[in-house]
Amino acid sequence: MAKIIAGLTTSHIPAIGNAIASGLEQDEYWKRFFDGYEPVKKWLDEVKPDLAIVVYNDHGLNFFLNQVPTFAMGCADQYQNADEGWGIPLLQPFEGDAAFSWHVAESLINQGVDMCTCQEMLVDHGFTVPMQLFWRHHDNWPVKTLPFAVNTVQHPLTSAKRCFQVGQALRQAVESYPEDMKVVIIGTGGLSHQLQGERSGLIDVEYDVACINSVIDNPEWLYNQSNTEIMEKAGTEGIEVIMWMVMRGALPEKVNVLHKHYHAPISNTGAGVLLLTPAE
Ligand code: DHB
Ligand code: FE
Repeated sequence: MAKIIAGLTTSHIPAIGNAIASGLEQDEYWKRFFDGYEPVKKWLDEVKPDLAIVVYNDHGLNFFLNQVPTFAMGCADQYQNADEGWGIPLLQPFEGDAAFSWHVAESLINQGVDMCTCQEMLVDHGFTVPMQLFWRHHDNWPVKTLPFAVNTVQHPLTSAKRCFQVGQALRQAVESYPEDMKVVIIGTGGLSHQLQGERSGLIDVEYDVACINSVIDNPEWLYNQSNTEIMEKAGTEGIEVIMWMVMRGALPEKVNVLHKHYHAPISNTGAGVLLLTPAE
């Protein structure tokens, strides 16, 4: 049987991809941020998951504003990446697992989560930067992937609560797959940031830390907030944090915290990392 062995979270800021391309990891600005990933990389190398479900939002690459699904997932054996405008160099394509994806899609739809399925899907920095943060030290990507896109760009948006419920359905979808597979689920995006308008540059460290702590053992605190409440605190793009709730919903009520890290600012964003494993 397939099993979700861990939930990870990370911000997905494009400047990270460019810092990696320019070899800046040890620079003063970046060092503490990148150091925050080392324990997670080590753990992943020890447990060697087979597949990563990467919950991210497309930023206008695969879905432009003329057609934006609320929840979409890749159902392909390979995903190419492309630069949606930040100048991040292209990476090796990512391996998918179409048979696994179709199982997950069918299970989700049977549970009432009406997915958009994509047999072709270009992935952007929301997906590639987390993959780099966890696995760039390998010559080839050591995990298969399932890109899981949540619209956090074009209003009306889904809610944190709905994301949590989708995560719960995802767990059932994964854990009903008959093949033995170790799966990790990665919630990306956030934490607080706003890239435009009067409040551009906004970061709320206190709210970010509260979000991280809520994701660990009190997800209700976050998922009972409306999108307006979240954006008031976290900024308009800070709404990306709702994707952390998909990850959290896919884990049981009790989790072990294997790693927790926060660093602000990175570019315009408060950057958080979590590694959680099921305690039940
Ligand atoms: C930044 C953060 C994001 O999540 C994003 O999608 C683009 C830019 C930033 O902090 O610069
Ligand atoms: Fe983003």
